Amino acid sequence: MSESYAPSPELAAQANGQESLFAEAEADFEGFWAAQARERITWAKDFDVTLDWSNAPFAKWFVGGELNVAYNCVDRHVEAGNGDRVAIHFEGEGGDTRTITYADLQKEVAKAANALTSLGVAKGDRVAIYLPMIPEAVFAMLACARLGAPHSVVFGGFSSEALHTRIADADAKVVITADGQFRRGKPAPLKAAVDAAIAHGDDESPVETVLVVQRTKGDVDWHEGRDQWWHDVVDGQSDTHEAQPHDSEHPLFILYTSGTTGKPKGIFHTSGGYITQAAYTNSVVHDLHPESDVYWCTADIGWVTGHSYIVYGPLANGATQVLYEGTPDTPHQGRFWEIVEKYKVSILYTAPTAIRTFMKWGDDIPAKYDLSSIRILGSVGEPINPEAWRWYREHIGGGSAPIVDTWWQTETGGIMISPLPGVTELEPGSAQRPIPGISAEILDDEGQPFTEAEKVGYLVLTKPWPAMLRGIWGDEQRYKDTYWSRFGPKYYFAGDGAKYDEKGNIWLLGRVDDVMNVSGHRLSTAEIESALVSHEAVAEAAVVGAADETTGQAVVAFVILREEAQERADEVGEGGDLVQELRNHVAKEIGPIAKPRSIMIVPELPKTRSGKIMRRLLKDVAENREVGDVTTLADSSVMNLIQSGLQK
Ligand code: WTA
Repeated sequence: MSESYAPSPELAAQANGQESLFAEAEADFEGFWAAQARERITWAKDFDVTLDWSNAPFAKWFVGGELNVAYNCVDRHVEAGNGDRVAIHFEGEGGDTRTITYADLQKEVAKAANALTSLGVAKGDRVAIYLPMIPEAVFAMLACARLGAPHSVVFGGFSSEALHTRIADADAKVVITADGQFRRGKPAPLKAAVDAAIAHGDDESPVETVLVVQRTKGDVDWHEGRDQWWHDVVDGQSDTHEAQPHDSEHPLFILYTSGTTGKPKGIFHTSGGYITQAAYTNSVVHDLHPESDVYWCTADIGWVTGHSYIVYGPLANGATQVLYEGTPDTPHQGRFWEIVEKYKVSILYTAPTAIRTFMKWGDDIPAKYDLSSIRILGSVGEPINPEAWRWYREHIGGGSAPIVDTWWQTETGGIMISPLPGVTELEPGSAQRPIPGISAEILDDEGQPFTEAEKVGYLVLTKPWPAMLRGIWGDEQRYKDTYWSRFGPKYYFAGDGAKYDEKGNIWLLGRVDDVMNVSGHRLSTAEIESALVSHEAVAEAAVVGAADETTGQAVVAFVILREEAQERADEVGEGGDLVQELRNHVAKEIGPIAKPRSIMIVPELPKTRSGKIMRRLLKDVAENREVGDVTTLADSSVMNLIQSGLQK
């Protein structure tokens, strides 16, 4: 059955993204992007060449151009007379609020930029940011952008171990953090993780300064000469700062994401192309009208969605937005809808896992609030199942708001495949078409493009795009191998399975590599396996992403214990304590988001003759299915052994 929903004529008429964009981009690809860059971005020096792809897969966009990204996100709006417009309605978890206009934002960013300069941060230096969702996170990112010091934001839910790896890989000179963060109404320490990350092992840390925002007023250990309070260093600075132009290809940020091996990849993005696509997509896909909309993206700034659709895209467009520190259920399950009502949010961008959670909590919760301000809904992070899609439109969107199901990645920097809300006839569950200026295809196993409906293949991108990653920090070869070799150098391999339906809509079918998607967060099986194996009780581990009603996928681990640990587990019964200990160990090594939902202790793992673990079979077990074809196993009885062990 197919259902589709056309936009209302009123919405279509006023939409930023019109049908004609497709034809324009089709007729002159480079001309189209050059026009976007010139219309949407203020350049200190115009560019000479739109795209240099001569050194593919290393792209250069808007070559010769110079700009300051922070100027584009802040100062120019003040200069245009919009200094009094609210940039950020900050809503703290505990209900404390702060209203920040563009004029305020300009001052805060200037002070932070002056402070970083006083701490010795210069153009090109890397700054790690490990903060909760508070305004200082935005100020810090923009201050870095202003100075041309690439930031590396690390999600506040990552452990000190994960933070250590990221600080070391980017060679960060300064870390910006907070004393603590509020989580479900309670303060939790944050700076302690920075201390542990810096003190890690024997290696010398590159970190010279830790700049600490006071948020929870909890106790912190203080390292004289290294640690500085944000309020001591930033507050007294001059609130003006002259923004210097940077080259269009100057690095803007590094953001680590999980790949197929244990080591996270530092995806790095540059300035001109990234900000162009962030601004363009936020305008045409979210249909943002900065004079009248109130926009709210519920992502954390620790992920790419927060980078592109809280900080860079909306601020470049001069949006008024909500920044929320907390979780959806603190202090009650209507918290999101209370916020929508309070600020009259008109554009809401969230994740399918959140939507499914709201569905579970019940229709009566959103029904208690006035959500009539909502006109556009967005979804990101994983496929949205049609049932959740319909619920979202009905119960949050008043039965009429278009939903833009946006497919993209940390690597793509901006939205790539999505409906345009004023143009597209929506098909629940499908991200539908590449947006104007973007080209995608689906390939079969042999690397041949096809268009047949319902046949499953691999999603590839066939042309460079402005916000594309410029590489993996410090590892050119890995960049080529990961994205540009599976189907040859002509195709960017996204790592997602996909198919077309009869109408030519693209349906994304989830990762085809060893990357899991848990609550819209990317996790690598290899990373969790190596965390498990680092525990003294574990001899071998295999991790799979098993289907989960709420979180999309859940982490399920299969573990072979070392002999002594196995003996001990046998003595005390099922090894329940040990399982709990292993789950906590993963949380400590990576972060609570990576904690396995379940860990099964098994005597063997299914392997091929060449020693490769057959995760497909473990997935069958984890999803309670009959186990598939075992003929390629080195020892076909292994699966029986595993299953009979689990039934015990
Ligand atoms: C998945 C998040 C289906 C996909 C912006 C991709 C999606 C990975 C969608 C990137 C969507 C993201 N429909 N799948 N609308 N959006 N994905 O880097 O598997 O955290 O490769 O970026 O999320 O995750 P990342």
